[in-house]
Amino acid sequence: MDNTRMPGSHRNMSKIPKWTYDEMKQTGVDYASVEEVQRYDEMHQRFRDYEKDSDAIIKLLELNSKSTVIDMGAGTGAFALHSAKHCRKVYAVDVSSAMLNRCRKKVEEMGLSNVLYCHGGFLTYEHEAEPADAMVSIAVLHHLPDFWKLVGLTRAAEMLKAGGRFFLFDIVFPPEATELEDRINTWIRSIAKQSGRELAAEAEIHIREEYSTYDWIMEGLLERAGFEIENAEYGDGFQATYICIRR
Ligand SMILES: C[S@@+](CC[C@H](N)C(=O)[O-])C[C@H]1O[C@@H](n2cnc3c(N)ncnc32)[C@H](O)[C@@H]1O
Repeated sequence: MDNTRMPGSHRNMSKIPKWTYDEMKQTGVDYASVEEVQRYDEMHQRFRDYEKDSDAIIKLLELNSKSTVIDMGAGTGAFALHSAKHCRKVYAVDVSSAMLNRCRKKVEEMGLSNVLYCHGGFLTYEHEAEPADAMVSIAVLHHLPDFWKLVGLTRAAEMLKAGGRFFLFDIVFPPEATELEDRINTWIRSIAKQSGRELAAEAEIHIREEYSTYDWIMEGLLERAGFEIENAEYGDGFQATYICIRR
C-alpha cells in the first residue's frame, strides 16, 4: 500500500512567499543523498538503541494504541518504526525523500501499515487530519535558523490537541559563548572516543554549518510558540531534551 501523502500534506508551493526559508535545501550533512542516508542509519545503529529509546519516549508521553503521533524529521524511522507498534497512527514527516524511503522499507519489513509518510517539514507540512496527541522531533530543529525555528514550532503547536505533548531533543548550547574553543574541542574529542571519528566529523559540520542555538533562546521559543515546558534536561555534550505541553 502506498502510504505517502502526496501534495495534500504539503503547502501549495505557488502560495509560499518567495522570502520563505527553503527547508528542502540541505544544510550541513546532505540527507537527500541515498548513500548518506544509508551511512547515517548504519552509523547511528552502532551507538543508539532505536527500540529502547522509542519505548522510553512512548512511556514519557503516555502514548497508547489510541494515540496519533507526528514524528517531525523522522529520518530513517528511529522513532516511527517502533512507535508504530504501540500507537494507532504515526505520521513520519521529513524533507528528505531518501530518508522517508528507507523508513518505509524498514516499516514494511516489520509488517506494519499504520505509518503515513509525509514529504514536508516544520515549515511546509500541513497536518490535515485531526490534531495529533503528540509530536516527537529528534535532532531536527537545528536545521532551521532561529527566526524560522519559531515559525516551525508555532506550526507544530497548531498540529496538536490542547494538552498534547511535544518531545524535543536537539543539540543546544549553554548560555554564554565563553571558553568556547575548550568546550567544543572537549565535546568533539568525547564523541570521537565514545562513538568514533565519523560522528565526531559530523559534530564539526554541525557546529560550523547548522543552526543549534542557546538554551535560553530555545526555552523562549518553545514558550512563545504556545508550549509549556514541563521538563528541560541538559545532558553531557550539549544534548537537550524538552517535554512540553501544548497550552
Ligand atoms: C539528524 S537527522 C535525525 C533523524 C531522526 N529524527 C533520528 O532520530 O534519527 C535530521 C533529519 O531532519 C530532517 N530535516 C531537516 N530539516 C527539516 C525540517 N525543516 N523539517 C523536518 N525535517 C527536517 C532531515 O532530512 C533528517 O532526516
